[in-house]
Amino acid sequence: MAKAAVMTGVDAPLEIRTDVEVESPRAGEVKIRMAASGVCHSDLSMQNGTMMAATPIVLGHEGAGVIEEVGEGVTELAPGDHVVISWVPQCGECFFCKRGQPQLCEVANMALMSGGLLDGTTRFTSQGGPLYQMAASGTFSEVTIVPAIGAVKIPSDLDMKVAALIGCGVLTGTGAALNTASIRKGDVVAVVGCGGVGLNVIQGARIAGAGEIIAIDMNEIKLQMAKEFGATATVNASQGDPVSQVMSMTEQRGADVAFEVIGLQQTIDQTITMVRRGGQAILVGVPKMDAMVNLPAFFGMVLAEKTIKGCWYGSSDVRRDVPKLVDLYKKGELKLDELISRTISIEQVNEAFDAMKTGEVARSVIAY
Ligand code: APR
Ligand code: ZN
Ligand code: ZN
Repeated sequence: MAKAAVMTGVDAPLEIRTDVEVESPRAGEVKIRMAASGVCHSDLSMQNGTMMAATPIVLGHEGAGVIEEVGEGVTELAPGDHVVISWVPQCGECFFCKRGQPQLCEVANMALMSGGLLDGTTRFTSQGGPLYQMAASGTFSEVTIVPAIGAVKIPSDLDMKVAALIGCGVLTGTGAALNTASIRKGDVVAVVGCGGVGLNVIQGARIAGAGEIIAIDMNEIKLQMAKEFGATATVNASQGDPVSQVMSMTEQRGADVAFEVIGLQQTIDQTITMVRRGGQAILVGVPKMDAMVNLPAFFGMVLAEKTIKGCWYGSSDVRRDVPKLVDLYKKGELKLDELISRTISIEQVNEAFDAMKTGEVARSVIAY
């Protein structure tokens, strides 16, 4: 039996259950003894109803652990391997994977919507019924089962808390800058929202060679962190309109590339507006389902020649990007330890949600 944090309904605190039965992995699946899981804003977005979820569900999707058992036909992973969970399992064979867009993998898409693994079913039971698994993973559990294509091998000397963060916030944030956007050397980049994901956009932009990085947040602690991660200027959005502040920093032109990394209607509008003519707005944050992209088609888009691009999972190819990020971390070019504001136990997961709401942490990380 495993201990897990379970969402039973919208806005209800997660329940810590100790009776969770975890099946054996089926064909093409692996059982993982979790070592660490980050608490990401998307977990909170499920708990507060921003994103839809079938309940009861084991939340958590940003994790790392050790393979305990492999199902039939799994040849690339073996018990004892250290892995990062990729909550977008990438099949390598579908239309999108073959065209170099594995972040849009068809197999992953089906699983994400089902609340289960690739066949739509789940491997957890508790209190006599099944528990769903967030994003084909469910990392708020001491043990989980994921598709083998959703586990990426990492070196066994890599710190597991750091590895966990690579699985979502780091891949998404750095990928937004290095894969989704085209940042040119010397570009002025604006990043709206400097949480666990936004700080990674900032360091991705620095690695991509941005000349200026303007960090925008409402929280001074985050703006200070943003500077450590590479921001060259900061804008406190609680003290006046951030768009006009970015305009005045860019001779009224706007930023070459701007990223929205919160998921709010207001900041989506601001991000699109603060981009210069011919520039790119990259939408990373997951908004409520009724949020809209609003702009005048002619003046806002055609004449201004703006590009507005969605970003899913940092446009990452996990088998290419996870080793690349580990390498950058080992060379000291990627700050990952600094993202961990607090190490907590699974029992403290609701407190981690509270800390996220007040904006006082980049990441709380559960250590199992
Ligand atoms: N203007 C500027 N900054 C804001 C505003 C605002 N109106 N509202 C919130 N913020 C800041 C917060 O202060 C915080 O620093 O946005 C940041 C959000 O960070 P986190 O809560 O840590 O969220 P994170 O995990 O980084 O995720 C951001 O990406 O993957 C998605 O679902 C995720 O939509 C979420 C987004
Ligand atoms: Zn996440
Ligand atoms: Zn695929």
